[in-house]
Amino acid sequence: MTTVVNHPLVDHRMAYMRDVATQPKLFRELVSEITTFLAYEALKDLATEEVPIQTPLTKTVGRKVAEDIVLVPILRAGMGMLDAMLHVLPYAKVGVLGMQRNEETAEPVPYYAKVPPAKGHELAIVIDPMFATGGSAVDAVSQLKKLGYRKIIFLNLVSAPEGIENFESHHPDVPVFTAAKDERLNSHFYIVPGLGDAGDRIFGTL
Ligand code: PRP
Ligand code: URA
Repeated sequence: MTTVVNHPLVDHRMAYMRDVATQPKLFRELVSEITTFLAYEALKDLATEEVPIQTPLTKTVGRKVAEDIVLVPILRAGMGMLDAMLHVLPYAKVGVLGMQRNEETAEPVPYYAKVPPAKGHELAIVIDPMFATGGSAVDAVSQLKKLGYRKIIFLNLVSAPEGIENFESHHPDVPVFTAAKDERLNSHFYIVPGLGDAGDRIFGTL
């Protein structure tokens, strides 16, 4: 299932992020800020456990997150979301998957994988700002399942209907959270209206 995180504070930042005049420094900040909002929504069902606490006044009981989490950015653009995710989940582990789209076919070409082996109970959170044909995300989740991950979610910033349909047909068990669902893909498999090439805009390589 795909959840579109609708919120005025997300929309406001998305408007600046889409703007072709926005330079990499601000673009990176906007990616981080939207990622934080996305995480807040996507992680509201994280398991917690009771912990005893001594406040200055009395003993009470608090709740701590009780899930082992592995963040999995898809290189390169997924790195833009990593700092924000580590900010809200400082105890998370990180694995990375390198994936480059073939420019003609948009097929994902995996070139690197360094993900901790799964014990089976961990929550793996795949992060990548762009969800276009869905090929990269489908492949990333397939790799994680092969490694033994059973609980996986996918967070992205801008999605296309084509990608959502493709992903849901391959991984109907993996929830997706997106900050914007756009209109369509163009003939070069770019999201329209989109924001262009996220990796180039994050890393200043236009
Ligand atoms: C972009 C983006 C996603 C992918 C999305 O990566 O960061 O990983 O395309 O497209 P898809 O849904 O059609 O697979 P790209 O291959 O351009 O590499 P980069 O992040 O290194 O720029
Ligand atoms: N990758 C991007 O960075 N942007 C798109 O629109 C599609 C894939």
